Amino acid sequence: MGFLHLYYRVVKLLGSDQRLGWVLSFANVSLACVLFAEPIIFGRVIDALSRSSNLPRFEIWSVVWPLLVIWIGFGLFTIVCSTAVALFSDQLAHRRRHFALGEYVEHVLHLPLAQQTKTHSGRLMKIMLQGTDTLWWLWLSFFREHLAAMISLIILIPIALYINWRLALVLIVLCLVFSYLTHFVLRKTQGLQQQIESHHSDLAELTSDTLSNIALIQSFSRIQIELNSLHQISQRVLMAQFPVLSWWAVVTVLCRTTITISILCIIVLGVWLFTQSLITIGEIVTFVAFAGIIFSRLEQVVGFANKLSTDAPRLKEFFDVLDTAPAIKDSPNAIDPGRSKGLVEFHQVCFSYNRQQLALDQLSFVVKPGQTLALVGASGAGKSSALSLLYRAFDPQSGSIKIDGLDIRQFQLTALRRNIGVVFQEPLLFNRSIADNLRIGCPHASDEELRAACVRAQALDFIEQQSDGFNTIIGERGRTLSGGERQRLSIARILLKDAPILILDEATSALDTLTEASLIAALKEVMQSRSTLVIAHRLSTIREANHILVMDAGQVVESGSFEELYQQGGRFTKIMQQQYSLSNL
Ligand SMILES: Nc1ncnc2c1ncn2[C@@H]1O[C@H](COP(=O)(O)OP(=O)(O)OP(=O)(O)O)[C@@H](O)[C@H]1O
Ligand SMILES: [Mg+2]
Repeated sequence: MGFLHLYYRVVKLLGSDQRLGWVLSFANVSLACVLFAEPIIFGRVIDALSRSSNLPRFEIWSVVWPLLVIWIGFGLFTIVCSTAVALFSDQLAHRRRHFALGEYVEHVLHLPLAQQTKTHSGRLMKIMLQGTDTLWWLWLSFFREHLAAMISLIILIPIALYINWRLALVLIVLCLVFSYLTHFVLRKTQGLQQQIESHHSDLAELTSDTLSNIALIQSFSRIQIELNSLHQISQRVLMAQFPVLSWWAVVTVLCRTTITISILCIIVLGVWLFTQSLITIGEIVTFVAFAGIIFSRLEQVVGFANKLSTDAPRLKEFFDVLDTAPAIKDSPNAIDPGRSKGLVEFHQVCFSYNRQQLALDQLSFVVKPGQTLALVGASGAGKSSALSLLYRAFDPQSGSIKIDGLDIRQFQLTALRRNIGVVFQEPLLFNRSIADNLRIGCPHASDEELRAACVRAQALDFIEQQSDGFNTIIGERGRTLSGGERQRLSIARILLKDAPILILDEATSALDTLTEASLIAALKEVMQSRSTLVIAHRLSTIREANHILVMDAGQVVESGSFEELYQQGGRFTKIMQQQYSLSNL
């Protein structure tokens, strides 16, 4: 993405503020036009004074005061206009930053898990914060200073040519030197700048990963090792950064030198022109003032180019995330068929995470409404992967998955996910209150409904023991709760969601025997009226299932009821005997 294209994207993000953008641009043009008036009037005053040195005092004033009134008029216009520009540019930049942030978060939240797992949340966070900060700065500085600076340059040079073309040539050469130097350094540093940004993103990813695993780092005494990794990336940032800084330092020195030489040239050339009667003192004064304005604008534009080159990779990263098209989205004819009856069918489903190795190979099964299907098998057999396809965390490469006879790709995603309640293998919780976490699936649930769900999930006792009961904040990922408590909360949350299809991924694995027994009873009650797909490691859950699939390396190797499978004496019997000491069953 080139500079201009990036800039175009930035302007497009102005959205509904584009009209204000135009008004501010117009105000900037006016300010730039007014800017040249001051040196011209100043020159006129000096010329008027030098011509009328022998006139009486009141006559001198009668020549000078109209010029002063015009000067005051321009001054007032500049003050009002620049205050309005500063105020509205600030408001616009802040407002658009929040819009851009919202747009980014919404986009990332819509990206399917397949894309989310590729990028660390720390990296996404860094791209969001730095990207929106850069956008904010670009809008603000563009409307406050840089647009006016660029327009002034475009306006001042023809005027300078008009006033005295010989002196103006010096200014034109100066502008060309500045443009060349800036272009040269931009070309030299572009690649390095991209490297710097990518190292910065690595740094953000590593820091975020480290900070979210403090317990692990402390228990493995890895503090120094982690700091070393951090230090290594910082070194890489600095190694790439220093040459860029040096290049820009060279440009600054060269620009300053060019300005000093140009001033000298203007003065020497001005004196010579004066001796030849080709210029007045007023014109020289006007010109030196002009040159001063042009120098400061040129320095501003070079500073802007420098900042743009630093920020371009940040913006590119930001737009790259926004441009990631969600691989899983509603098809154009997607429908919302309402509440499902609960008939689930997998037909010859093949799925691979990396398109090389199959995680699921020709998986087929049917779960009739209200029935329970249990998936058992070794770790890594593909059980969680299989069920994640049902709520379209991923799409299979071939085969079909249907609910009530309708392919799940024909459902609106929200309609599909509304019909499925998932208790994940690791309970996923927000750093919010217990009540907020419970209401995720049912935002309008009353306090009584919350309590009733917690009673059924055996969660009420521990919630009431918390300092603030249902209002207790449970920390990042529910860190302040035990593993079993987190699981019971996620079960209560699913009870509140009341979906017709349930997916339970080892929901009972972290509970003590007593709690587990009562929880299983509660789950049984919920499961009765729903189709349930359960990844079961517990004997009691496996026994209750209407149908059991034994999986190995992504394939179903045995299937049937508990008794049928156990009597076959195959893989299932071996697993049961190994795990549950059922040799005498
Ligand atoms: N997001 C992912 N990206 C790439 N590969 C993955 C991903 N999730 C799982 N896998 C791989 O797919 C295979 C099946 O994993 P899956 O989580 O489905 O196993 P499982 O049967 O649920 O195991 P467990 O009983 O340990 O939970 C494994 O080899 C795993 O490494
Ligand atoms: Mg699993």
